[in-house]
Formats: sequence, structure tokens, C-alpha cells
Amino acid sequence: MSLADQDPIFARKELLHVGHVPEENRIVGRDTEIESVAEEIGAIVRDDPPNNVMIYGKTGTGKSLVSRHVAGRAKDAAGSNGVECNIVYVDCSEANTETRATRQIATALKQETSYDQRIPLRGVGTMEYYQHIWRILDTHLDSILLILDEIDKLASSNILMQLSRAREAGKTDCYIGIIGISNKIQYKEQLDERIDSSFGHRELFFHPYDAEQLKEIMRNRTDAFQPGVLGSGTIELCAALAAKKHGDARKAIDILKEAGELARRNDDEAITDQHIKQAQNVAEINRVEELTSGGTIHAKLALYSLASLIITGSKESFSTRDVYERYEQMCELVGYDAVTENGLYKQLKEQAFLGIIESTKTGGGRSQGSYLLHRLVTNPKHIIKAVHRDSSLDTLPSLGDLQDFSTITNESSQATLDSSS
Ligand SMILES: Nc1ncnc2c1ncn2[C@@H]1O[C@H](COP(=O)(O)OP(=O)(O)O)[C@@H](O)[C@H]1O
Ligand SMILES: [Mg+2]
Repeated sequence: MSLADQDPIFARKELLHVGHVPEENRIVGRDTEIESVAEEIGAIVRDDPPNNVMIYGKTGTGKSLVSRHVAGRAKDAAGSNGVECNIVYVDCSEANTETRATRQIATALKQETSYDQRIPLRGVGTMEYYQHIWRILDTHLDSILLILDEIDKLASSNILMQLSRAREAGKTDCYIGIIGISNKIQYKEQLDERIDSSFGHRELFFHPYDAEQLKEIMRNRTDAFQPGVLGSGTIELCAALAAKKHGDARKAIDILKEAGELARRNDDEAITDQHIKQAQNVAEINRVEELTSGGTIHAKLALYSLASLIITGSKESFSTRDVYERYEQMCELVGYDAVTENGLYKQLKEQAFLGIIESTKTGGGRSQGSYLLHRLVTNPKHIIKAVHRDSSLDTLPSLGDLQDFSTITNESSQATLDSSS
């Protein structure tokens, strides 16, 4: 590459990619967590049975990174002891049914081994994929580490039962260690209800980072940029912005990356505070989009409805009833059948789990009963923009439409909404 083709901003942009697993000395503040995961799965290195682990924590707290890192280390150590160990990583927000997940496991294992049977991609059921999995495990491997990321998005927990009981059920002699990861702490109760004690497992909780840790995480990646692109206060500002709300490392890195993109698009030589502030908005929209990506269309409509009420109304929080009325209008606009009010209430509760909204009980006296008020933790404009990125919902009123609309009285509001569809 000649100097003229060189990217003026990024030197090694891949360092800012979410899936990038940095070397251990670039992983900040997770020594205890790394040790804990290693303790649970480490037995495979000696060809002994590993324990299963569930990791809980909000997004961007390093759960996926630590899991991949420790699993990789264990695999290497096992290999040098002559133990055949494989890692299979499944993103359950995509492989969100038992069939999809088992198919992915089977095909990933086939790729890594010399298994020569064909694995059909369609037309067969879960049982056939399990059969392939057991055969590959028995004939090619001593152990596997299975990372089930975003496991709360998986429709059924049967896969956990099948895999954790496989040895005692005589399906395979191979050791199977499962690392399950969930962004929702509430999934723990759901899991405890759904599975029995055969999924014996340790639980770990990852906490958000503070501004110092975020700074160090970003400093460890400054070689993603060309010399001179980052100013002296750039990282401090990104860390402060990311720490203020969520302590989310993904968002901190995302702000840095988006700021670089903005600088490049504007033909600027360095990242300015202005770029960072703009990038923060983009990063927040990315974050909301990602949090809602596994949810239903109704979850997005629920969020959109609350956000649009806040933009067009003069209040910060609204009752379930208010949100429901707006939601029904929006369903009509985009041509979806509305769920019931109780169904919508469940969607709102789900969003509260994800930390996008906050619901507080408020109440009337004893006779009136209490009711819930919902408010957004994040800027409503970011919600509107994030929901708009879903192409099946892009006929919803845009942010501009809503802002115009907020100046019009309620009576003519329906007409405005209709005309924008
Ligand atoms: N302790 C850390 N040190 C360095 N980078 C980190 C750390 N924790 C997270 N990151 C980076 O932040 C981003 C999000 O981390 P990730 O592991 O995907 O979070 P989670 O799975 O908890 O949502 C990734 O790019 C990851 O490399
Ligand atoms: Mg993750």
C-alpha cells in the first residue's frame, strides 16, 4: 500500500471491532473473573470433567471477551497435554432455537475435525443434529467447551439439559463444559425454574467498569489510530461519557471508532471534542439497536411509543395505559395486530430488564390502587432513530415528523400521523 492510499485516521481498525479478542495484557480489571472462569473449566486441561458456568452482567462488561479468552487458553493448555479439546461459540441471539443451535454446533464441530458425514442444513430435526454431535465428540475429541452467548435469547433450555446430561445418559464419553452468558440477571430465575440440578453450575456476576478502567481499556487500543489522531484529552472525554451512564466498554470503544469515522468523513486530521460528542449519539443509537435486536417487533413498538410520547408530550413518564394508546395507533400505522394491554405491559417490563426504561410504582390511596409509570433511561431521540433502523418499521413517523407534531394539538395529531405514513 502506498502512502497515498494509507488511511489517514485508522492504523489498525480491527482493534476496535467488537469481536476482537485482545491479548491478556490488554484485558483490564478482569483478573478475578478470568481466574474464576478458569477454575471452573480448567479441569479439561488434565482431561478431567469441567464444571459449567453461567455469567451474568450488563452489556459491555467483558463477558464474551473473558469467556473466549479463557476458553482459548484452556484449549491451548489441553493441547500441549495431548488432550483434544475444541471450542464452539454460539451466538444465541442468531441461533435462537434448539434446531438452529444444534445445527451450528454440529457444523462447527465438523469443520474443526475430520468428520466425513454430510450434515444437512435443512429438512432434518434437532435429534439428527444431536446424533451428529455425539458421533463427532466420541470419535474425534476428548472434551469441548461450548460458549452459549446471549443464552436468554434461546427459545428453549432443552439444549442445556441434553448437553449437561449427555455423559450420564450414555450419549458420549466426551467431557462437555458449558459457559452460558446472559445480559439479563433475571434470566437466572427463569433458568432455575426450567432446568433441574443436573446442570450443576457456578454463577458469576460481571460489574460495569468505572471511568479509570474504561480509560485503560481505550488506551490499550490507541494503536488502532494513526499517530497524532488522538488528542491529549480524547480518551478521557470518551471514558467520561461512557462511564456516566452505563460503564459499558463496548460503548466506549464504539464512541472512539465512530469519532474516527466522523473525522475521516470530514477530512479532518485529528479527532476533536465535537466529533466525540456527535459519536456518542451514534454509539448510543447503536447500543439501543443492539439491545433491542433480539426482541419482538412489539418490544420495539412499545419503546417507540413511550419515546414518541415523551417527545410530543410535556412529561417525562407515562402510564401503561398512555403507552398502550399510542402503541395501538402505531400498530395501525405499520400494519401489525396490537397485542393486549397486558402483553404490552410485559414488553415494557422486559425493556426495564435491559435497562432501557425504568418503571416506578406510583400510587393513589388504598382505594385507587397503585400503577406504573414508565420513563426512558436514554434520550428518546436515540430510541426513535434506533427503531427506525428496523426496515419493517421505517414507515413510523421520523424524528422530524414527531418534533413538528409536538407543536400541534392533540386533536389534529391523528391526522398528522396518518399523513406521514
Ligand atoms: N476488561 C476489558 N479489557 C479490554 N477490553 C474489554 C474489556 N471488557 C470489554 N472489552 C471490550 O469491550 C467490548 C465489549 O465487550 P464484550 O466482552 O463483548 O462485553 P459483553 O459480552 O459483556 O457485552 C469488546 O470490544 C471487548 O473487547
Ligand atoms: Mg457479549
